[in-house]
Amino acid sequence: MSDVVTTLRNAGCVFAEDEAALLLAATTDLTELAALVARRVAGEPLEYVLGWAEFRGLRIAVEPGVFVPRRRTEFLVRQAIRVTAPRAVVVDLCCGSGALGTALAAAVPVDLYAADVDPAAVRCARRNVPGEVFEGDLFAPLPHRLRGRVNILLANVPYVPREAIATLPPEARLHEPPVALDGGADGLDVLRRVAQEAPRWLAAGGHVFVETSDRQAETAMATFSAAGLTAQVHTSEDDAATVVQGTSA
Ligand SMILES: C[S@@+](CC[C@H](N)C(=O)[O-])C[C@H]1O[C@@H](n2cnc3c(N)ncnc32)[C@H](O)[C@@H]1O
Repeated sequence: MSDVVTTLRNAGCVFAEDEAALLLAATTDLTELAALVARRVAGEPLEYVLGWAEFRGLRIAVEPGVFVPRRRTEFLVRQAIRVTAPRAVVVDLCCGSGALGTALAAAVPVDLYAADVDPAAVRCARRNVPGEVFEGDLFAPLPHRLRGRVNILLANVPYVPREAIATLPPEARLHEPPVALDGGADGLDVLRRVAQEAPRWLAAGGHVFVETSDRQAETAMATFSAAGLTAQVHTSEDDAATVVQGTSA
């Protein structure tokens, strides 16, 4: 244990003890352990090395090249759970690994669908999501029968302003795909497209939830309002998270 801790600490891992415990629990084979530690020391995200990320107490399978679900996004799921009725129709759009929908479905029994444009994300989501996973651009691959029937739309779209991608930590910048991060000039390009199309898919009184930065929340609210949705913002200092909710009439 102490060798692994020292190796990780020397490589700059801030939580060397915790990471060492997780890597040691991942295998009893010393050759395999050495390979896992070497990957981590080379800068791969811990979640890729382990093959999973923790999200709302669940182990979500993640594969290299797929966005690692962030703990702060648990706040978005908590907001959605508050207004999700049993058997609601839920769509996890831009699902990545499918962590959001999977976590919501673990809390409330729902009819769950997920979709992502990235084939690697879709493959990964199919390992996690207790529902159908579709591949394609935003709403395009969803079955038409869901139009006007979606009660809860989870959409953690990419929202990093393009110029800020260079300032992200290397684990994100070098290992996560640009399609998972890049939200265009102000970070809100994909969110705008979701806002425009969401009213056609939401049931009466249905909700859409997106995560934004603090600074983007006002523009995101205005975007939802312009699309005919009632917008509200939720913030959590503990999670360092901002969520914008849009509700259809
Ligand atoms: C910030 S990641 C969020 C992933 C997941 N929802 C989560 O929170 O862990 C954004 C995801 O949006 C997907 N994406 C980006 N543009 C898309 C588009 N036009 N249509 C569908 N998915 C898209 C990316 O492939 C990526 O998986």
